[in-house]
Amino acid sequence: MSIVNYEVIGDIGVIRLNNPPVNALSNGVREGIWGVIKNAQNDASKVLILLCDGDTFIAGADITEFSKPPQPPALSEVIAEIENSNKPVIAAIHGTALGGGFEVALACHYRCALASAKVGLPEVKLGLLPGAGGTQRVPRLAGVTSALELITNGTPVTAIKAAEMNLIDQVINDDLLNGALSFARELIDHNAPLRRVRDISIDTTSIPKGIFDDFRKRLEIEAHSQLAPQHIVSCVEAATLLPFDEGLTKELDLFIECLLSDQSAALRHLFFAERKAKKIQGLPKDTSTREINSVGIIGGGTMGGGIAMSFANANIPVKLLEINQPSIEKAIKAVENNYNLSVQKGKLTVEQKIHCLSLIKGITDYSELAEVDLVIEAVFENMELKQEIFSELDQNCKPGTILSTNTSFQDIDQIAAATNRPQDVIGLHFFSPANVMKLLEVVRGSKSSYQVIATAMQLAKTIKKIPVLAGNCYGFIGNRMLLPYAREAQLCLIEGATPDQIDTAMQSWGMAMGPMAVADLAGLDVGYKARQGMSKAQKGDPKTFCIADALVEMGRLGQKSGTGYYRYDPDTRKRKNDPEVLEIIEAQAKAQGVVRRPIPNDEIVNRLIFAMINEGAKILEDGIAQRPSDIDVVYVYGYGFPAHRGGPMHYADSIGLAKVYDSLCALRNQHGEENWTPAPLLVRLALEGRTFTNWANDQS
Ligand code: 3HC
Ligand code: NAI
Repeated sequence: MSIVNYEVIGDIGVIRLNNPPVNALSNGVREGIWGVIKNAQNDASKVLILLCDGDTFIAGADITEFSKPPQPPALSEVIAEIENSNKPVIAAIHGTALGGGFEVALACHYRCALASAKVGLPEVKLGLLPGAGGTQRVPRLAGVTSALELITNGTPVTAIKAAEMNLIDQVINDDLLNGALSFARELIDHNAPLRRVRDISIDTTSIPKGIFDDFRKRLEIEAHSQLAPQHIVSCVEAATLLPFDEGLTKELDLFIECLLSDQSAALRHLFFAERKAKKIQGLPKDTSTREINSVGIIGGGTMGGGIAMSFANANIPVKLLEINQPSIEKAIKAVENNYNLSVQKGKLTVEQKIHCLSLIKGITDYSELAEVDLVIEAVFENMELKQEIFSELDQNCKPGTILSTNTSFQDIDQIAAATNRPQDVIGLHFFSPANVMKLLEVVRGSKSSYQVIATAMQLAKTIKKIPVLAGNCYGFIGNRMLLPYAREAQLCLIEGATPDQIDTAMQSWGMAMGPMAVADLAGLDVGYKARQGMSKAQKGDPKTFCIADALVEMGRLGQKSGTGYYRYDPDTRKRKNDPEVLEIIEAQAKAQGVVRRPIPNDEIVNRLIFAMINEGAKILEDGIAQRPSDIDVVYVYGYGFPAHRGGPMHYADSIGLAKVYDSLCALRNQHGEENWTPAPLLVRLALEGRTFTNWANDQS
């Protein structure tokens, strides 16, 4: 079987692609389609069908080829060959027709798809725009507004929706080949014309006035400082202003600009990072996984409730254990309120809500957990309490139940030591809100078995999370790196900045939220309690957290108490700067002998981000993360790091480790050794002119 195969069935020519895993348009596929279409022009077939073997229709250009020199034929040439065919070509779609794959389908004269299929142009998620005619053909078929929506948000639509949008001609409910053959026969019987999308003219009078500017403004806010979304608007606009071929030229120029941008490099890096993160280094090939068909959760607070929803959403029944009946009711009520919000937003039907709620059962007795396959503990962050619970679980759960903890910082081995089955104990660190955030940090204890680790990593897919494997240390990957980031935010505050200045500087740089607003959201008491358990040496310089401590001691716990670094409107939860906070900061600075000074925004950004990168390098050296790209996945999916900067380690590579090292040295000269000793790995790589990425490649 070759990559592109051709057979004539009666008077219909069937072109089959076979390029696993996703039938990407690699060089061989492009060559194959191009050759087959050319040869088929003179054979006995009257109509051609293009379809794919395997799980999916063409899922797009081969992303790995974007960083290599281009090989002929270009996708645009293949597409022109299809569109110029002297006999109709039908795309027969199953799975997903994405990016270049959907552009191939759009160049076909007709499109049919299984009802279960999806189509879309997700290039924007890679910092790109459709570069093979998508921006010119979709508005011709679906209209300008739908084209702008589809291409700027990048989310695929179902075949049924696509048919409503005029992007699919026929939806097939059973066998794709048979359905496509009948469709072809109909076309032959009706002597159907060669319908070329390029020949459709857009009715410019029907375009809503000001739509392009409206989209530009909207995307400036939603996709802050990103190139591709703005260029997509320009391309769709060009489709309404220019002849087709000139529109294509404009699209190609802007595609190339995006392809060469740092933003696209970062987003493509993340695409592969996310997939690599699932792979467990050193996993014996014969490792089996355990089935997880039922789950117990201990603690139905902020995290427990959200975790329960993640499982119920995946149709897995949950037993939620709380201390007493009122606490159960409170927990279930909170979950119900969350589901109600989803129904209000149209993300869930009432029936789906009722079904999910029926899967969550509140309990108070450990004996009810005897048969569950997995338990996730999410009670207060207290080692003694967690150990008591794990001992209870050990006594009550069947052999083979995986016992996990959602702890943010505690030692997994110490928790596992409270059981007689440390091989079955693991950390499953979800992020708040747990039903929304995509990251799942899987924390391996020193005795966690490979089977348990592999099961946890696989489970993530079932509950639609992105897993990253971390080693056991204080804070694992994410929170360990957050500590120096938070430290620098506190130091900038006492040295002269305001909460609003810090948050605005970090948000303008691209962080989803600034550190002070995040602290208010999480609750200032969380860090406070953690610091109470620390020795003087662990706490470090008293000026670091004196402001945070003072706020908590005044009852300012963040959003939950209505005041923290900001004051919150009780109805809208909107934040306002609070002059009282400035007084507290100034008083603390005075008490600590700090003379406040104006701090430039770029100093804030550099201190926070470089402190984080330096800790990331230490994490790599300590073997806590398997690879630098895993750290990037943690930060983008768990901490709101801007995806178009690729994550902290990719960002460091992109600006050059020598520059990072120089900046760390400058910060050390300014602020001292204690916080700013460059990580030895970073020093070594900077001096050798290397990157974290090529260091990681050498390790694997
Ligand atoms: N190019 C190269 N490799 C690809 C690929 C692509 N377009 N899409 C997927 N892969 C690889 C993945 O890296 C992975 O490799 P691995 O097994 O070595 O880790 C393997 O295929 C399977 O992928 P997933 O794990 O993602 O499989 P799923 O079944 O979960 O998802 C999918 C399948 C929905 C097709 C998903 O892979 C996907 O969204 N792919 C990318 C689609 C896309 O962005 N297309 C646009 C590309 S840009 C373009 O076409 C430009 C054009 O306009 C010119
Ligand atoms: P929370 O205070 O909102 O909820 C804790 C729940 O545990 C409460 O409902 C309480 O009644 C219940 N509980 C206490 N003792 C119990 C016991 N013996 N048996 C059964 N239930 C008991 O706490 P939150 O924020 O949900 O945190 C839980 C865990 O998750 C902690 O370890 C925390 O570090 C971790 N975590 C928290 C995150 C956050 O953003 N809040 C993020 C990631 C992890």
